[in-house]
Amino acid sequence: MPLPIYVSRNGVLISPAQAAVSVFNPALYGAFGVYESLQVVNGRAFEQAAHLSRLAHSAEIIGLPLPADLSTLDRWIAQVLAANEAGDCTLRLFVVGADQASEITAYLWPQPPTRYPAHYYTQGASTITFEAQRFLPEAKSLNTLASHLAQRAARAAGVHEGLLHHDGFLTEGASSNLFAVVGDEVLTPSARQVLSGVTRDLVIDLARREGIAVRELALPLADRPQWSECFITSTSRHVMPVTVIDGKPVGEGQVGPLTARLHALFERYFAVHTHPHSPMGENGSAG
Ligand SMILES: Cc1ncc(COP(=O)(O)O)c(C=O)c1O
Repeated sequence: MPLPIYVSRNGVLISPAQAAVSVFNPALYGAFGVYESLQVVNGRAFEQAAHLSRLAHSAEIIGLPLPADLSTLDRWIAQVLAANEAGDCTLRLFVVGADQASEITAYLWPQPPTRYPAHYYTQGASTITFEAQRFLPEAKSLNTLASHLAQRAARAAGVHEGLLHHDGFLTEGASSNLFAVVGDEVLTPSARQVLSGVTRDLVIDLARREGIAVRELALPLADRPQWSECFITSTSRHVMPVTVIDGKPVGEGQVGPLTARLHALFERYFAVHTHPHSPMGENGSAG
């Protein structure tokens, strides 16, 4: 799909040119806002309810009242997707703090879906480590500088993702959650230290339902040579194998069996819940 024709500003459809935030708004230099990215398939957003509840959680962490309740946000999502005749896309939702000239404002718009090369899934993606920590990591706030710098470093190194580390511990990807396999256990940092990714939470749930052991604990950088597998998760990536970190192979340097199993489990769940006849709510919430 091309650029959006309509952007929703607090439920009012405007042109992309009108969707502007003033340089005089202190929210800009304070990064005082929260956001979400949702994957839309056939005009319906996957796990919409989980994304909106995380939006509310992020807003609460930074003390920003949302401009509308969640059922109104559901309506604004349906409205902007319909107006743009959006089928498969990424839906962006920003909530920006107020200034004297404007109220707290939610902007919603569809953009082309993010797609990754198929070989990232068959051979695994390469990554680098990057020393940085996101501010208030449990919140998906507009303060994305740490992620931005890690992504820039990854691009400069010719790899897919930057993995953040701080105080000797790996925490999360620049825009993803991080998982390692040690023995027959899947390990991932606690949601108190990182963003509670919608994909992460689903993967943990699906794994545990299949009897796969998942433990939430800090991941020391020094333990990295013991990892037999590694993968990252996010809305656009789903479960993406990582086979290289800082130029060194993870385990055998191939997509590992637990990663492949979790990838398949997630894709099955995704296919069922994005099927046009799946019992998702009218607003696209998977519930
Ligand atoms: C820092 C960070 N961690 C994790 C994620 C993955 O979250 P989700 O699975 O909800 O997309 C993102 C997504 O953008 C992110 O920015």
